[in-house]
Amino acid sequence: DPIRLSDYRKPAWTVATVELDVDLGIDASEIAARLTLHRDPAQASPLRLNGEGLELLSISVDGQPLAPADYRYDGSTLEIGAARDGSVLETRVRVRPAANTALEGLYLSGPRETGFLLTQCEAEGFRHITFFPDRPDVLARFTVTLKADRERFPVLLAGGNPAGAGELPDGRHWARFVDPHPKPSYLFALVAGRLENIERDYVTGDGRKLKLVIWSEANVIDRCHYALDALERSMRWDERTYGRHYDLDVFHVVATHDFNMGAMENKGLNIFNAKYLLADPDSSTDDEYRAVEAVVAHEYFHNWTGNRVTCRDWFQLSLKEGLTVFREQQFSAEMNSPSLKRIEDVSLLRRAQFPEDAGPLAHPVRPQEYREINNFYTATVYEKGSELVRMLAGRLGTSGFRRGMDLYFERHDGQAATIEDFLSALGDANDIDLTTYLAWYAQSGTPRLHAKGLYDAHKREYTLTLSQQTHATAGQPHKQPLPIPVKLSLFGYDGKALPLHLDGHAAETEKVVVVDQATQSFVFRNVASAPVPSLLRGFSAPVVLECDYTPAELALLVTHDIDGFNRWEAGQQLATLAFENLRSTGDTAACSAWCEALSALFHNPAIDDALLADLMTPPGEIEFADRQSEVDPAKIHAQRQALQHRLAQHLGATALLDRYQALAAHTSQALDADSQARRRLKRRVLELLALLDADQAHALAAHQYQNAPGMTDRLAALGVLVRDRAPQAAAALADFRQRYADNPLALDKWFSVQAQIPGEPALATVMALENDASFTLKNPNRARALLGAFASTNPSGFHRVDGQGYRLLAERLAQLDALNPQIAARLATAFNGWQRLEPIRREAARAALKELAQREGLSPNLSEIVANVLQR
Ligand code: ARG
Ligand code: ZN
Repeated sequence: DPIRLSDYRKPAWTVATVELDVDLGIDASEIAARLTLHRDPAQASPLRLNGEGLELLSISVDGQPLAPADYRYDGSTLEIGAARDGSVLETRVRVRPAANTALEGLYLSGPRETGFLLTQCEAEGFRHITFFPDRPDVLARFTVTLKADRERFPVLLAGGNPAGAGELPDGRHWARFVDPHPKPSYLFALVAGRLENIERDYVTGDGRKLKLVIWSEANVIDRCHYALDALERSMRWDERTYGRHYDLDVFHVVATHDFNMGAMENKGLNIFNAKYLLADPDSSTDDEYRAVEAVVAHEYFHNWTGNRVTCRDWFQLSLKEGLTVFREQQFSAEMNSPSLKRIEDVSLLRRAQFPEDAGPLAHPVRPQEYREINNFYTATVYEKGSELVRMLAGRLGTSGFRRGMDLYFERHDGQAATIEDFLSALGDANDIDLTTYLAWYAQSGTPRLHAKGLYDAHKREYTLTLSQQTHATAGQPHKQPLPIPVKLSLFGYDGKALPLHLDGHAAETEKVVVVDQATQSFVFRNVASAPVPSLLRGFSAPVVLECDYTPAELALLVTHDIDGFNRWEAGQQLATLAFENLRSTGDTAACSAWCEALSALFHNPAIDDALLADLMTPPGEIEFADRQSEVDPAKIHAQRQALQHRLAQHLGATALLDRYQALAAHTSQALDADSQARRRLKRRVLELLALLDADQAHALAAHQYQNAPGMTDRLAALGVLVRDRAPQAAAALADFRQRYADNPLALDKWFSVQAQIPGEPALATVMALENDASFTLKNPNRARALLGAFASTNPSGFHRVDGQGYRLLAERLAQLDALNPQIAARLATAFNGWQRLEPIRREAARAALKELAQREGLSPNLSEIVANVLQR
């Protein structure tokens, strides 16, 4: 049965203090726990603790060992009759880290001889380590003592402040950690093994001296410096922007190659997927550098938004995740380029979240029910959640939002809070009622915002009518209007923004109107000529905008909008119009307008290279598919290629080649914005040139591959060769394979780039790569690099008309599920959207899913996704 938000009850039993004594071993570890318990006098329920598959060695209450009749343990819940308010419960259990392939709880990273032990507890992993009320609203003070063989486990780490260490007989040692801040069990962590570190002193703005320490296995420790710099930047930024300081004497960060997610904000001991911590020019792309900076910041920011103020229950997940993504996006925008960051964020939202909202996996940012909470770490909770915070922040303005955040921290520090608490704090601090925004958290589906403008030359009035509609989603047949902030400007045909006269307010060129009914009209007075509206500026709300622009109007915005994001957005709309007209009526007017506008920008020296590269990239295949009612991914791929071919033709081989060579003259691997921008544009220009003159582009790519000063250029060149199956591809792939034989993160890219070959050849490529000696389903990064890249990012390769892509994925999901249910469930979301496929593919996908659903013994994780994808 699902767990429902409406069933929430306060915990009947809480834990004031917990002392853990962990005796570490690779095959078996023993955990002794001592909990001081408190009972809510208003509730009568007996003590029930979570404990998943634990081998119980001993149990006592208030010093009295319990007889088997005194408790009941069914493998997931431990019920004890004898406990009273104030009782001390002591348990001792054994767990098996090396056998833990689910990577949840205590597990081994790397080979048993040399690897290290670590934990992952969010959301419900702590119950795989010891008996506990494993829910986020039980906050306890943790004291953790680790004991282990000194030679095998020289480094012992747990969250909190160090509180002693020493020798034990038989070559063993111990270390103790006390965390002064009460925390929920999901923020517990330990790490033990042979690790190296780099460290730095840090003094917080409020005078606390501490050490920042990054840990990794010895062979990659010199790739941690960028992350350490990023950590320091994040800490300063949070002090400056939100007045939030760090609160322990040490901050540890650990890298592992075996991790289900990106990273985890465990109190004082963050644990990272190495993919988001290690960075060096030879093996990381520019995009990966930015991802490291963003994830380091994200996890650090959780210390306040997540840890000091945590979630009451897992339905509130977006309270910490949406808010922390928003803070991370603000930080990244400041560290890099705000408009490029916004383009990146909106693209991700459209690629990952819009399809979620439009299909059978749709759920509100605050879900109403779930079976397996790990399935709800979604783009909706994270990315759409961030957009909701952004709307609130926009509504309050910079200082109003800061006031609201201050009040939120003041009220809820040390507590487990709700989304209502958040909205009340933001609202109360500003004397504004924000409760209408709660509907955004409760309603799933992406609103469509339709805009229609009417100009009355006689009255010199422009009336903008905005209507909103949200399609029914699973479990939500009827939708209500939401408050949609629409930031807008009006442009004259000379390309200048007009002063806006609305409701008699002073004239500005940009305004925000809020649409909170099904249809509303806004009248602008004193408008000299029919304007072109620039709507939803900065993507002021997570909606799909429908506006019947002419190609010329969009071209005007592409050419004249001074804001980088809006210029890009107008270009995306124009490219979409071009794409749709070409495929439906063959009308080329929009395509010509798009090509001409881009050509002008291409030859405009004032425009930033990175922005130009993004402008020259039409929406992706997934975004185009999202707009169609019957999807043929092979056709979409071909039509999108054709669109790009027209752009390439319009620009011309000579201009593209000249530009490529001018960009290639810069060989610096520096990370400054200009160098990154040049690399980004160089890649785009090479891709377009390859559409016109394949031989020449492939020769250039082969040369670029061989002489690349760093990974960005090397991978870009490899991508062009592999995707085109150029004659030079095999040699480059062989070189890459050998060059990075000992670098799993780089090797993941070798798998991904091949899994992304478009169309027919992808399947055979993937199947051949599965037989590569370095392929394994046991490592999440590797499984994602091959199967995830194939199924989720290569529509024309995966969605084969013969259904073989679906059958391959279903088969691997079943295998993977036996090892790691979280990863299997995540990869299964690639089936999302199958109902809108054209009939032949639709039937093949349905059959593969049905067959998978009927298999015996699927995990709750995978069955929930498969059932939801199939039935709803
Ligand atoms: N809280 C982590 C983050 O967003 C993600 C952990 C997700 N873990 C999971 N098992 N779903 O930074
Ligand atoms: Zn997070």
